[in-house]
Amino acid sequence: MACWRIVSAAVVFGLALYAFLPAPGPITENIEEYVTSTKGIPPFGLGTWLSNKDKVCSLPYGQRAHKNEDQTGRGIAAADVPREDIWVTSKLWNAHHRPNEATAAIQKSISDLGVGYLDLYLIHWPVAFVPGEGTKLDKETTIVDTWRALENLVRANLTRHIGISNFAKRDVETILDICTICPYAHEFETHPYLQQQDFVDFHREIGVKVIAYSPLGNTNPTYDSDIQPLLEDPFWKGLAKKKNATVAQAVLAWGLQRGTVVIPKTVHEERIKENRGALDIKFTDEELKEITRQDKKVRMNDPGKSWGVKLFSDLDDPTNLGEGSQEL
Ligand SMILES: NC(=O)c1ccc[n+]([C@@H]2O[C@H](COP(=O)([O-])OP(=O)(O)OC[C@H]3O[C@@H](n4cnc5c(N)ncnc54)[C@H](OP(=O)(O)O)[C@@H]3O)[C@@H](O)[C@H]2O)c1
Repeated sequence: MACWRIVSAAVVFGLALYAFLPAPGPITENIEEYVTSTKGIPPFGLGTWLSNKDKVCSLPYGQRAHKNEDQTGRGIAAADVPREDIWVTSKLWNAHHRPNEATAAIQKSISDLGVGYLDLYLIHWPVAFVPGEGTKLDKETTIVDTWRALENLVRANLTRHIGISNFAKRDVETILDICTICPYAHEFETHPYLQQQDFVDFHREIGVKVIAYSPLGNTNPTYDSDIQPLLEDPFWKGLAKKKNATVAQAVLAWGLQRGTVVIPKTVHEERIKENRGALDIKFTDEELKEITRQDKKVRMNDPGKSWGVKLFSDLDDPTNLGEGSQEL
């Protein structure tokens, strides 16, 4: 199914059977009041990475990964629902970290999506590239510079919230130390094979929501992992059967129950309905303990290796920084 059609179906389906939480009221001049008064992100969203093979870059690490915002915008328009009834998140690509680039980038996203403003805008990776020079690292532009630029995007009413993605713990702390408008959410890889419970708990303590990307683990076909597919894992098959659910539903239910926002991607309408069924499943404490024991600590998505940057050393292996990689 074309990307825009599935987005449209998701929006309509979401409104009919699972009300997306209403988005915040009108933007106010008082930024502090606005940031504290707004309602939150829905716990269940639709991921759109790789949703349209014609439009999506086949080299997600080297260039901008998502090139389907125009398709997503078409889907939103076709759903024909009030803007305030949907939540739209987009991300700032590495080549646009410089303040003037960031403003132009969000304006393009808003225009392609046809939404007027974003609900959430994230720094995609804590790594800046020199604009127009591929993956050449921009050593002049820091994540603090880029965060300041994002704060100005809130002040300019281009986005209601700002956040981060793929930041290590020390990167999060750097932003917390300097923020005037602080991160609303952090989108990072977490699923039953990469649980990162300490990191999830850390975000709860600092009041930053966690958006769990790749919530179905190695189901994303671009991930090259040696371990068995999560959806065929005997433990999860058994647990799903016990819950009278599909494996995908059980896995997503766990993501929801631990308080993360889950954003499974699918291009199949029936799977949107299926995945949404996760909202009706609850695990006992004993089952949750069993799930904890299934963690394999396997990270599927680490483009830092091809950028020459050690992204996650304080999360995965603080002792092994890797040869030829620089710590950011
Ligand atoms: N911030 C970042 O750097 C970053 C990185 C990665 C992903 N993300 C975000 O997270 C979203 C989701 O992550 P993801 O796409 O990597 O992985 P995912 O959502 O965990 O898995 C997607 C895969 O699962 C399949 N699938 C979905 N529902 C299913 C079901 N009920 N039964 C069987 N298969 C099912 C999809 O196939 P079909 O489409 O054929 O159904 C697709 O192949 C992305 O779209 C993107 O928005 C962000």
